Amino acid sequence: MAKPRTCRVVCIHEFGDPASVVRVEAREVRPPGAGEVLIEMLAAPINPADINILEGRYGKLPDLPAVPGNEGVGVVAECGAGVEDLASGRWVKPPAGVGCWREALVAKAEDCIPLPEGMDTEQAAMISVNPPTAWRMLEDFVDLKPGDWVVQNAANSGVGRCVISIARHRGLKTLNVVRRADVRDELKAMGADAVVLEDEPFFKDVAAITGGPRPRLGLNAVGGESAGRLLRCLASGGTLVTYGGMSKQGFTVGAAQMIFADLRVRGFWVSRWVKEAPRQVVRDLFAKIAPLVCDGTLRVAVDSTFPIERAADAIRRASEGGRGGKVLFRFR
Ligand SMILES: NC(=O)c1ccc[n+]([C@@H]2O[C@H](COP(=O)([O-])OP(=O)(O)OC[C@H]3O[C@@H](n4cnc5c(N)ncnc54)[C@H](OP(=O)(O)O)[C@@H]3O)[C@@H](O)[C@H]2O)c1
Repeated sequence: MAKPRTCRVVCIHEFGDPASVVRVEAREVRPPGAGEVLIEMLAAPINPADINILEGRYGKLPDLPAVPGNEGVGVVAECGAGVEDLASGRWVKPPAGVGCWREALVAKAEDCIPLPEGMDTEQAAMISVNPPTAWRMLEDFVDLKPGDWVVQNAANSGVGRCVISIARHRGLKTLNVVRRADVRDELKAMGADAVVLEDEPFFKDVAAITGGPRPRLGLNAVGGESAGRLLRCLASGGTLVTYGGMSKQGFTVGAAQMIFADLRVRGFWVSRWVKEAPRQVVRDLFAKIAPLVCDGTLRVAVDSTFPIERAADAIRRASEGGRGGKVLFRFR
């Protein structure tokens, strides 16, 4: 019988300052049992939600000690008895909740999502949070037709860039709000129809930007005054979907906005969607997203990569504003 092996993991024993609470430790990895696979991890990003978890400020916190890391990509190294639809060498997205900041893990084969051959490692590692979040938000709240406008803040974030790419793919138009001018040209080059700065009074004359129509969907990852500006852009009957709170500030919706403009305020959490949707529906969504990632239509920008032994440096970089994209762990 195969012996357990050891691997390194990034682990937390307490919540607190993100770069201070992470430790790199050795862990035993047992051989896969029946219906399980042993996965050797290739890469895993550090998302804002991971940082919030390290801080102890997230909607759902793990029991401690815990290995964080909500998503990543790995390669199947060994299959347990009875595993038929995965083979050694296949790239997979491990199941949610396993903790991806580690060199190896064992998971149920049926909970892994197989990924196509030939994907870029870093893009494959980021396929399960930002792209499906953008996809579902553009599909599930407002019945958008080609030519319709969507307004969003944090438009240069991973999700924001996916929104721009998926919207363009569907023939939708995007009004993108960012907090720094240096990303304007980059977002335009990737298909953003309009890019405005948070401190510009863009919300006072939306028609001048869109050529007439107001957006019926707004996507809010910031909160505070930024969310208020999105609300002011929306068409009567429009919907603001909040999926992040980067400013850590709440926002208010005026009575007149609710009564006379009939604005709707909703929330979205991709983890809940993945948990509650039938497994085949989740797989179907990844089957639509994966080719777009493979052909470059959908791409999350990368700032930097770090080896596991530099976990604290990686977390420090991921916590900084003004990055050029995501920070990832590369395990091999
Ligand atoms: N609900 C869900 O299912 C779901 C799924 C994915 C992500 N999210 C959330 O969505 C948000 C974005 O995630 P991501 O992975 O796309 O992020 P990301 O790629 O790491 O980018 C973070 C973005 O937030 C901006 N930002 C940081 N601090 C800010 C502040 N105080 N005010 C305004 N903007 C600020 C950054 O702007 P600069 O580039 O100018 O620094 C950057 O555009 C996060 O809150 C995350 O937790 C939610």
